[in-house]
Amino acid sequence: MEFAAITGWGKCLPPAVLTNDDISTFLDTDDEWIVSRTGMKERRISHVPISDLAHVASVRALAAAGVDASEVDLIIFGSCSPDEVVPNAASRVQLLLGIKTAAVFDINTACTSGMYALSIASSMIRTGIARTALVIGAEVASSVQDWTDRNVAVLFGDGAAAFVLQGTEKHEGILAEKLGCYADSRDILRANGIGMRYADGRTILGTIWWNFNGQEIFKKAVVGMCEASQEALARAGLSTGQIDLIVPHQANLRIIDFVAKRLKVPPEQVFINIHKYGNMSSATTPVALVEAVEEGYVKHGTHILLPAFGAGLSYSAHVIRWGERVTPLHSTDIELPPCEKTGLEIVKEYMSRPRAGGPY
Ligand code: ACO
Repeated sequence: MEFAAITGWGKCLPPAVLTNDDISTFLDTDDEWIVSRTGMKERRISHVPISDLAHVASVRALAAAGVDASEVDLIIFGSCSPDEVVPNAASRVQLLLGIKTAAVFDINTACTSGMYALSIASSMIRTGIARTALVIGAEVASSVQDWTDRNVAVLFGDGAAAFVLQGTEKHEGILAEKLGCYADSRDILRANGIGMRYADGRTILGTIWWNFNGQEIFKKAVVGMCEASQEALARAGLSTGQIDLIVPHQANLRIIDFVAKRLKVPPEQVFINIHKYGNMSSATTPVALVEAVEEGYVKHGTHILLPAFGAGLSYSAHVIRWGERVTPLHSTDIELPPCEKTGLEIVKEYMSRPRAGGPY
């Protein structure tokens, strides 16, 4: 196949909301600081496992594409907070969808995971390895959060998005991308306590603390997103003037403003949803793209630039030409199970868990 078109899209945001004011009840912070430094007003907190969010997003994406789950032969689950490492989260989504056989795997490049997943699926379709792919970007950041650290706890939220990719001879889908990583910046953003090097007999969850150098991340993020964008545009043979819409990773409104200014793209061409969800890590750019379509910013032939960055410090930029479908073929009534708790109550439960050295 020449290209891999995005023929379906769906999202799943857990209903429980955690506002800035909620956070200021247990951390020394306030709404004014968070809004002025980040652009975030509230975020969602999941009451279900990440694979449940991913499942609902996937069912919605399949309905939008008019594709039966049995046609899916590839699932890529982009995330750094899977329910478990072995077996992977993609296989639980496969099970919930009732798919008998498919190639399914998780990938983790931190916040860029959903975008790397998109590239891998597109390449596997274009090379004939897969025919119909489900690409997921999902995060339950609340479960890997250090809720005692105001430097990071205010920044993240939970969510999921999914896309259906199918081969096409038309010039659409991902036209070009640039993926990379500044490994010498690994230490400026690290979630300590997750992974095998910490499995020394302690309870792993609830013993998480972060290295987080916000200003260094900020600088590297701007450079990585801008350079990757220029490279992806050059590979696609397009100039920034030919881009209709930028859908960036939403980690900080000021980072987005810097990137748009450097790329000389006017603010009205930049899609923003950070105020509603904070940074959903792997789900951020995928959910933003889904909402850009849902809100009518994407038309047939729209050129979209998607710059992103994540811990590692990984970066990516994709140039996409959108295909003909801008409204879902079908809808579905699938919903998450109801949530009886507030976002604050769920977070308080995380905080009450025992941690090495005693309770919070
Ligand atoms: N509430 C109140 N004060 C706070 C908070 C808070 N939540 N967090 C930090 N502060 C304080 C700091 O302690 C510091 O106080 P001090 O001057 O007394 O030491 C002061 O605010 C200023 O801190 P700065 O780090 O200078 O604030 P800055 O303007 O750089 O904003 C921020 C911090 C928002 C983290 C910014 O640097 C940033 O967005 N960096 C990138 C963040 C990012 O990438 N996040 C996502 C990472 S994961 C991913 O998507 C890749």
